[in-house]
Amino acid sequence: MNDILPGEVETWQFLEQSAREIFEIYGFSEIRTPVPEKTELFCRSIGETTDIVEKEMYTFADKSQNSMTLRPEGTAPVMRALIQNRLYNQDSVTKLYYLGPMFRYERPQKGRYRQFHQLGAEVLGVEDPKIDTQVLAMLHHYFRSIGIDSVSLQINSLGCPQCRPAYREILVAYLESRLAALCPECQRRYLVNPLRVLDCKVPGCREATTDAPAMIEHLCADCETHFSQVQKHLVALEIPFEVNSRMVRGLDYYVRTTFELVTDQLGSQNAVAAGGRYDGLVEGLGGPALPGIGFAIGLERLVLLKGSEKIAPRVPVVFIAALGDAAVDPAFVLMSQLQAAGVRAEMDYQSKSLKAQLRRANKLNARYSLVLGDEEIASGQAQLKNMADGTQTPVSLAGLVDLLVEKNS
Ligand code: HAM
Repeated sequence: MNDILPGEVETWQFLEQSAREIFEIYGFSEIRTPVPEKTELFCRSIGETTDIVEKEMYTFADKSQNSMTLRPEGTAPVMRALIQNRLYNQDSVTKLYYLGPMFRYERPQKGRYRQFHQLGAEVLGVEDPKIDTQVLAMLHHYFRSIGIDSVSLQINSLGCPQCRPAYREILVAYLESRLAALCPECQRRYLVNPLRVLDCKVPGCREATTDAPAMIEHLCADCETHFSQVQKHLVALEIPFEVNSRMVRGLDYYVRTTFELVTDQLGSQNAVAAGGRYDGLVEGLGGPALPGIGFAIGLERLVLLKGSEKIAPRVPVVFIAALGDAAVDPAFVLMSQLQAAGVRAEMDYQSKSLKAQLRRANKLNARYSLVLGDEEIASGQAQLKNMADGTQTPVSLAGLVDLLVEKNS
């Protein structure tokens, strides 16, 4: 779990602000849900046999002995809120986005933390493949707008309750024929969650399953059409992608389209964003039969990718230096007037020497400094010093606020 410190937080703010702007263009509204939820919500949605539910949840009993869990992801809580508040009654399409901390008890490494942040979006109510493409187009637009082009889009289809069971049987039979070559974890889970075996990182498992049957070769006609339409629309919008038939997501609620934005710059944590369709989820949680699709971006991973080009912290526009004790209070009033007018102004609150004050103005990278002493107060005139080139401009104290508001804009 990380502290996000001044100097780093500017990158976070930039990424968050850009997301708000772009997501709103596509008609998404923000939703904020609580950090803890009933544990049962995640068991029913993410799936009992997933790594998240089996091993990674921060679960505790509250004082009334309710089993609570710090949310490991955002989709299930958003669906819970959607059902509870009947948000789907307002329009036939519901578009929501969220941003906040998630918790998974994973082994920490670069790009993988126990408290991390997701920026996610969900669309409810549309089965049409155009919405799958639209969601991917929004992701593409967002990454372009924040200047990250080192990611590539991989897509897959995981079929639906009509076609997946038959594929699952074919896959289980295939895995059974190579059971001895699989790692103990895969030997244990191949019957309960055979798709996960395709995602196992152990080299032996990868080698043993190179020619495993793929879901996309066993899609029913409806899923096949859906998947090809998604691709057709992606081509029409000129969004580059590749089909990765081995992509399996770590959550059980997915059907049909799934996708990841991957990078080769973060070691083994290569997914910067991921998502897919979850048509049965809302109904499974007790709501109406609403199709859904969405994604979540891992903000820490995005910050790591953005990392090298740090966003410069905001610097003071002007530093007011008080010359002599009598000038400290007027300097304080002047600084406060500037701040109230929206100008980033600073001063030293404890009457230090003029030299020490100007040293601090330098350290803070203030754009201008202004020395206020008895003389300036009496004449109502002062010198505004440009800290970059040392030039001084005479200014009237009465007009300073207006002048700096203008320079600040
Ligand atoms: P997920 O693949 O589990 O999907 O997580 C989405 C993204 O969150 C990952 O691609 C990664 O960038 C980031 N992430 C996950 N775990 C960690 C971690 N321990 N440390 C840092 N970053 C992490 C979901 O959570 C789905 N709810 C996405 C979704 C939304 N599907 C449909 N709608």
